[in-house]
Amino acid sequence: MPRLEGFGDDLNVAVFGASGGIGEALVQSLAETRNVNRVYAVSRTICEASQFIHPIGCPEYSDQTLRDLASRLPNLDVVICAIGLLHDDTFGPEKNRSQITMQNMQKIFEVNAFLPTLIAKHMLPKLRKDRKGVFAALSARVGSISDNRLGGWYSYRGSKAALNMMIKTLAIEHGRSFKHSAVIGLHPGTVDTPLSKPFQTNMAKANLFSPDFSASRLLDVVEKVSPQDSGKIFAWDGEEILP
Ligand SMILES: NC(=O)c1ccc[n+]([C@@H]2O[C@H](COP(=O)([O-])OP(=O)(O)OC[C@H]3O[C@@H](n4cnc5c(N)ncnc54)[C@H](OP(=O)(O)O)[C@@H]3O)[C@@H](O)[C@H]2O)c1
Repeated sequence: MPRLEGFGDDLNVAVFGASGGIGEALVQSLAETRNVNRVYAVSRTICEASQFIHPIGCPEYSDQTLRDLASRLPNLDVVICAIGLLHDDTFGPEKNRSQITMQNMQKIFEVNAFLPTLIAKHMLPKLRKDRKGVFAALSARVGSISDNRLGGWYSYRGSKAALNMMIKTLAIEHGRSFKHSAVIGLHPGTVDTPLSKPFQTNMAKANLFSPDFSASRLLDVVEKVSPQDSGKIFAWDGEEILP
């Protein structure tokens, strides 16, 4: 049974987007971690409960619902936001600028940048001040401006770049009073989930991770980060992704 080293004992952790491919794998992996006391699995739908998993349904994320949720939670050691959107039944990532629409941009930015920021607003004050705490939001390598060589995917790229800026800005403020904490972004690799399904056709199998593999590597990163890393974005293998 693994342990999250460097955190202490009886950890309370929360995962948002707990029914997603990566979110669910993170919940299961954390529930099997020896020093984790309780995993709060927050989702629009109710996840399955177990001895260590406490499901919380949140059909809509708003200031009000998140404030209520924060008031019901104990202090937390780790918060992971695994919410994200790339496509739905009506739209997919833009191949060129003619496919950009206001409606789709708003939707993608809302889910990928605004919701994680609102969640951070209400969850960062719940991190413990006396020992290591981590807030991590699932970002994506394509949110790196310096790494953008192919173009396309305007809304998704732009929303993840915006998320990365929010992470950096939240990290600066948070670090002033939470000296042991880190606020980071995580790139999970390309993972076999509903989000990546339509884009897996030409991928080599070896480059497509299972959600369990990705979740366990992401938790390795969470384990290793220190307050000096706050504001940075890390890939699943611990490599820093530059803005
Ligand atoms: N899969 C990949 O290859 C890949 C690559 C790079 C980055 N990422 C990032 O990793 C994160 C997790 O992705 P995934 O692959 O696990 O995707 P997924 O299986 O589609 O899960 C995404 C989850 O996000 C939440 N969500 C989606 N739309 C929402 C909305 N309108 N309001 C509130 N919550 C919403 C849902 O959580 P609930 O159902 O629990 O409410 C959904 O299950 C995302 O941020 C994604 O951008 C994934």
